[in-house]
Amino acid sequence: MKYLIANWKMNSIDISKWKNDFENHHKEFKDNLEIIVCPNFIDLTECSEKFTYLSIGAQDVSSHREGSFTGQISAKQLLKATNKLKYCIVGHSEVRHKGDSNFLVREKSEQLINNKIEPILCIGEDKESLGKGERESFLLHQLNSYFENGSCPKLIAYEPIWAIGIGRAADQKNIKEALEIISKFLKYKKLEKIPLLYGGSVSAENIEEIMALSYLSGCLVGNSSLDGKEFARIAKKF
Ligand code: 13P
Repeated sequence: MKYLIANWKMNSIDISKWKNDFENHHKEFKDNLEIIVCPNFIDLTECSEKFTYLSIGAQDVSSHREGSFTGQISAKQLLKATNKLKYCIVGHSEVRHKGDSNFLVREKSEQLINNKIEPILCIGEDKESLGKGERESFLLHQLNSYFENGSCPKLIAYEPIWAIGIGRAADQKNIKEALEIISKFLKYKKLEKIPLLYGGSVSAENIEEIMALSYLSGCLVGNSSLDGKEFARIAKKF
C-alpha cells in the first residue's frame, strides 16, 4: 500500500473547486494508493461529506481527554466533526515549534489511539543538528521518546525541518540516510511494518525521484497539495 497525504495546514481552500480539479483525474490513480486529506478543524466535516473516496485526517489534537483547556480540541470532539476521521498528524515540526515536547506528542497519540484514530507521527531534524552531524541522535531521541510507553503510529513521516516550505526537497542521499536510521530503529523494535513517508517540498516535479527510494511508502505534501490539479498530478505519478 502507498500513501499520499495532503496537509493543508492553515490555508483557506475552496473545497468545491479543489474537489472538481482533483476529481477530474482520480480514475487515473492506482488502487493501492490511499489518499488522505488533512484540512483544518473547521473544514473536517465538509471534506468528509464531499470526499467520499478519500481518507480524512486532522492536523493536531489535544493531549487531554476533556476539561479546562481553552482553545484545544479533544480526540472525541474530532470524531464529532466527522465519524469518518481515520487519521491525525502528531509531532509536526510546526506544532513542535509552538512548544510540543516529545512527551506531549506521545500523550496526544495515546488520546488518538484510545479513540481509534490512527496517528501519523512526524519526525525530522533541524538544519543545525544536520550541520553538526547530530541527525541520528536527534531522530533516535524523537523515536525513543515516542515508543517509550508502547504507543504505535500507523505511519511515520520523515520531514526534515530544513526542507519544509522552501520549494526544494531534500536530496536522495539525505532522505536515504534518514530512512535507514528510522528503519534500523523499527527493525530493532520489531515494528518494521510501519510504513515510512517523506515530507518537505514534494511536488509533481520531484515525486518520481523521491518515490524511487526503497523504504519509502509515500509522501506528506504541504504547498503542492493546496491546488487540486497539482495534487492530482502528484497522485498520478505513484
Ligand atoms: P511543504 O510541502 O510545503 O514543504 O510542507 C511539507 C509539510 O510540512 C507537510 O506536512
